[in-house]
Amino acid sequence: MSDLAARMRRAGFVPVVTIERAEHGPKLARALVDGGLPMIEVTLRTPAALDALAAVLGEVPEAEAGVGTVLSVDDLGRAASIGARFAFSPGFTPELLAAGAKAGLPFIPGVATAAEAMQARSAGYRLLKFFPAEQSGGIAALKAFHGPLADLAFCPTGGITEANLRDYLAQPNVVAVGSSFVAPAADIEAGRWDRITERARKVRALIAG
Ligand code: 3PG
Repeated sequence: MSDLAARMRRAGFVPVVTIERAEHGPKLARALVDGGLPMIEVTLRTPAALDALAAVLGEVPEAEAGVGTVLSVDDLGRAASIGARFAFSPGFTPELLAAGAKAGLPFIPGVATAAEAMQARSAGYRLLKFFPAEQSGGIAALKAFHGPLADLAFCPTGGITEANLRDYLAQPNVVAVGSSFVAPAADIEAGRWDRITERARKVRALIAG
C-alpha cells in the first residue's frame, strides 16, 4: 500500500469542500482538523480554489490538503505547483493517466466500472476514486470489484452519508470515503465553523465506533 493510501486509511474520511472565498480556506481547514478530519479535498470548482488551498497549506500545517475535480493536465500541473498533497479526479483521460504518473504528487483517478478500473490499473494506479459511488452500484459494486481486481483500493465518493459510511469503510478494498456533507457550501459561506467541527467530530466518532 502506498504511503498516501496508508494515511488515507488512518484518516478514514476525506471531506470534499468547495470554497468560494480564499480567506475561508484556513478557517475551514482548522474547523475540520479540530473535528478530527485532517485530510481535505478542495475541489477545483471555483476560481478561488487554488488560492484557498495555498492558504491552507501555508497556514494549517496539520491539514493534509489536496485538490479534487482535476479535469485536465493543466489542473494537475497547477495543483502540483502550489504543493497540493494529492489530486483526485472524478474520472480520467489517457493524458491525465500519463501526466499523473510523473506529476510530483499522488494522482487518484476516478473510475465507475471494472473496465475503467482495469485501464487505470494498466497505467500503474492501485488507489482509485470510485465515483459516483452510490449511483454506480455502491457497496455491491465494490464487493464485485474485489474478486477480479483484488489489488485495487478505493476511495468512494458520491452519495456517502452518515448512514452508509461505516458500511463502506467495512469493505476490504476501501481505504477511506469522501463526501461533501460535513462542510456544506451554506455553512462555509456563513462562516459556521462550529457546525462543521461538530459534524466532523460525529464522523470521527462513527469511524472509531
Ligand atoms: C466529489 O467531488 O467527490 C463529489 O461531488 C462528492 O459527492 P457528494 O457531494 O455526494 O458527497
